Amino acid sequence: MESQPFAGQVALVTGAASGIGRAVAQRLARDGAAVALLDVDAAGVAETERVVRALETPVRTVTVTVDVSDAAQVRAAVERAVAALGTPAILVNCAGISRGGPVAGLGLEDWERVQAVNLRGTMLCCQVVTPLMAAAGYGRVVNISSGTGVRVGPGSAAYAASKAGVIALTKALAGELATSGVTANVVAPGITDTAMTRAAFGTREAIEAAAREGRIANPMGEVLEPEDMAAAVAFFALPESRHITGQTLHVNAGAFMP
Ligand code: NAI
Repeated sequence: MESQPFAGQVALVTGAASGIGRAVAQRLARDGAAVALLDVDAAGVAETERVVRALETPVRTVTVTVDVSDAAQVRAAVERAVAALGTPAILVNCAGISRGGPVAGLGLEDWERVQAVNLRGTMLCCQVVTPLMAAAGYGRVVNISSGTGVRVGPGSAAYAASKAGVIALTKALAGELATSGVTANVVAPGITDTAMTRAAFGTREAIEAAAREGRIANPMGEVLEPEDMAAAVAFFALPESRHITGQTLHVNAGAFMP
């Protein structure tokens, strides 16, 4: 039987309705965690719950519909998750959006919404969940940034700024929580085949061709999968990763090496 390093633990995953968040929920559930599945997309999160419950071993789950940019909603969602499953040992902030364009024509509405979901949403979830973890003396926070938060190209200002912010936020948190038994780290994905990427590239085949032909930096020439990101999240979430905090792990097939 496969080992279950998260047996007896509760994981709270935002953005769990799709892509990387869904893969993270599956991975943590497979590895023994009860999973609280949070997302603004109620139908998507119900589908994730169905997928997770189809795993071989029985998994405890709860789904909560929440806009992570809204402080009151986040507080209520966490309360609901805790009431259903117990205090989270693992928090993974995957909820995110990508919008915008060159600064010259960047609409304030797009700018504000990207910061609100990607950065404020991540901060709010950390703000509500980490005191519970600290009180329990144990926790693993993994925030999803992006390679774009570090290696920034033209036209990505809103998204890149939000993702750079996630890295800075996580470093601050890691320091604040250093003596509490709670770590905080970042996974920074390269271009991964999810709904977000399909919206930009159109099809899986288009992403594969771009990787193969070097149009997206990827020396391995292979498409990154949500499961690749889930594996990195699971690594940070392990009990024995206790001395790893404030770090950013780039899962990008060697696209760049900061
Ligand atoms: P996705 O679009 O498949 O999933 C994002 C999820 O976030 C969706 O389920 C969506 O409903 C949810 N969400 C959006 N706004 C929300 C809100 N206000 N409140 C709650 N949930 C909300 O995209 P993907 O690719 O799985 O993205 C996951 C994370 O990974 C995001 O933070 C994204 O920025 C990041 N990322 C993705 C990359 C990629 O190539 N797919 C590359 C680098 C980072």
